Amino acid sequence: MNSEPRTSVHGTWSGRWTFILAAAGSAVGLGNIWKFPYMAGENGGGAFVLIYLICILLIGVPIMVAEILIGRRGRSSPANSMEYLAKEANTFPAWKLLGVMGAVAGLLILSFYSVAAGWAVAYIFEGFNGTSANYYGESFDSFLQDETSLLFFHSIFILTTVAIVARGVIKGLEVWINRLMPILFIIVILLCLYATQTGAFFEGVAYLFTPDFSKINGSIILAALGQAFFTLSLGMGAIMAYGAYMPSKQNIGSTAISVAFLDTSVALLAGMAIFPIVFANDLQTASGPGLVFVTLPWAFVNMPLGLLFGKLFFILLSIAALSSAISLLEPGVAWFVESFKTKRYVAAIGLGLIAWTLGIFSALSFGLLSDFTLVGDRNFFDSMDFLSNQILLPLGGIFIAIFVGWVMKKEKVLEELEIKNELIIKVWFFFLKYIAPLTIVMIFVEGLT
Ligand code: TRP
Repeated sequence: MNSEPRTSVHGTWSGRWTFILAAAGSAVGLGNIWKFPYMAGENGGGAFVLIYLICILLIGVPIMVAEILIGRRGRSSPANSMEYLAKEANTFPAWKLLGVMGAVAGLLILSFYSVAAGWAVAYIFEGFNGTSANYYGESFDSFLQDETSLLFFHSIFILTTVAIVARGVIKGLEVWINRLMPILFIIVILLCLYATQTGAFFEGVAYLFTPDFSKINGSIILAALGQAFFTLSLGMGAIMAYGAYMPSKQNIGSTAISVAFLDTSVALLAGMAIFPIVFANDLQTASGPGLVFVTLPWAFVNMPLGLLFGKLFFILLSIAALSSAISLLEPGVAWFVESFKTKRYVAAIGLGLIAWTLGIFSALSFGLLSDFTLVGDRNFFDSMDFLSNQILLPLGGIFIAIFVGWVMKKEKVLEELEIKNELIIKVWFFFLKYIAPLTIVMIFVEGLT
């Protein structure tokens, strides 16, 4: 096997910052602003947040390094990168299935992700002149019964995602993502500033950061682990696919840390903006998927220039969701383009159609199909969410960790990493080989039984 660096047929990011922005664009999305606060609220606040942070640091970051590394060394779609690296390591070609499974998991996630993203798009058109926080609770509930709107916004969102992936992610993303992401960050900080004025800021922050250990159980730990994978876009090859377009000079370790840091900051800031509003208005912390759609509109009603900030916020949230959705579709599309010589736009439309069809069931989960349960007593939307985030992603994570930690030849791994510091390498290998896979297995055993 020659060790000439391979190049990707899909192109390369133009610079060091572009990869970080693209990966952060994938990582920062609904997971941070919509899902993190409501998961924390449903799972008891501080205890969940603590476990989530530990999972990010001890499992997420080491696995993110491993994913970028596989992608950059393989220089192709996750399925083909895995195939290439398995060959390089003289081991079973079946490792390729990890990439194929990832592409499938991506479609499952995209199907319900697009529905929630559609909600964000719909809220761009809100007037932010409601009369109480409860008003927004009721208006979200009735929105969930409005099938026509739900399907319309879901379709618009998938269509836009497909259009960008069809053009190629590099061309599609580079142009605008680096300008818009920072603005979203600023608005979230503004929302936190508003939260300090609600009179319940400390109550909200205390709720997020004071762990009540009596609340912890197996299923909360599993939920926190799943959220750590989801928010960092790990476990299905999204970061791997982007790694394939990363310039070969870039340092993988520090890049992964920057991405994880950016992503975690946005989630925590979103939580610090939302919970004070919850407490100041006597809302329920455990209001589920509607949480942001109830709290933030009410904040916009009350804040100066609220109409402007409200619209801007939901526009940027939709765009953040878009830059995440793109990375859910890309692994499958890149694979079809490489392996079956499919035209990029054909692959994007075909796979997009699958996600769209599945998404219809998710869109109707809170209304027409609310009695239909799939996994346990979860409706279709929650079942897709549970299956992908709490099962498929951590499972993918185990295999990624095993592959880079145990199967790849150590000198190849080191060659790709280019880290000189012995201690950092030792610590990273230790986490990848032992801590990550064993902890995930233990959490599975605890959380699923
Ligand atoms: N991380 C994104 C978010 O927080 C969602 C996402 C994009 C994702 N790509 C992914 C989740 C790949 C899991 C795997 O909104």
